Amino acid sequence: MKRVCIVGASGKLGRYMAQHALDRGYEVVGVCRERSVGKLDAFRERMTVIPGATNDRAVIEKAVAGCDGVLTVLVPWGANHYASGTAQAVLDTARPGARLIFSCGWHITRDGQDVYPPSLQREEKLARWVGRLTRLVDIDDQVEACRRVFASDTRWTVVRGSDLEEGESQGLPVWSQHVGDPILKSNMTRRVDYARFMVEALANDGLIREAPAIVGCRTTLASWSRPLRTTV
Ligand SMILES: NC(=O)c1ccc[n+]([C@@H]2O[C@H](COP(=O)([O-])OP(=O)(O)OC[C@H]3O[C@@H](n4cnc5c(N)ncnc54)[C@H](OP(=O)(O)O)[C@@H]3O)[C@@H](O)[C@H]2O)c1
Repeated sequence: MKRVCIVGASGKLGRYMAQHALDRGYEVVGVCRERSVGKLDAFRERMTVIPGATNDRAVIEKAVAGCDGVLTVLVPWGANHYASGTAQAVLDTARPGARLIFSCGWHITRDGQDVYPPSLQREEKLARWVGRLTRLVDIDDQVEACRRVFASDTRWTVVRGSDLEEGESQGLPVWSQHVGDPILKSNMTRRVDYARFMVEALANDGLIREAPAIVGCRTTLASWSRPLRTTV
């Protein structure tokens, strides 16, 4: 892995991923909305920034050229299919064989085998309802984005995040294939560690075509009977 692209680099997760990727010695190209370029000032000398909408195919094509890996922040904002357009642009333009890592939340299910706590089901229902009313959020479009990724024959990983919090790193999150697994009980991950999991997934072929649901490693009870899956 030499050169990686971060799609949605100016957000909180994106900036943490930029730092992790630079720490690993990768050459980094970031894509963010024009108005957000200033949020990447701290990285100005160390990465290339391409301004533009992340669902603009021409912008993504330029950004992912020559990249061995692409880290994509999938966000359900707006009512214009931003998430699915972003995912499609990456799937269509990344070089064959590139590692493609996408972020989303636990609410995304790959095989319908996830078991959600009632609180999460309520939150999702509310987000859908508010989203439809305000047209600010479109959860179903993020679902569609992931459906397209799952259906693709690329070397993808969809990293499903729990609730996020700021704070110092606690180490690499643990993960399970399904929400409902007792190791995910705490439902909290430090954002910096979510970013680390995404970046480490680039070099972990064991995660190809997996959709790990992650949680902070220190927030997990150590005594659960199943072995923890801590390597990405
Ligand atoms: N927040 C949580 O508790 C949580 C929980 C589970 C999973 N996740 C997942 O984690 C990832 C990062 O989420 P985050 O909440 O931590 O946010 P974040 O890292 O701050 O990223 C938000 C991204 O959305 C972009 N954005 C904001 N408003 C937008 C708009 N109106 N139109 C287009 N793009 C817009 C931001 O770009 P600008 O910099 O240009 O504004 C930024 O790239 C997402 O994939 C999310 O599904 C989050």
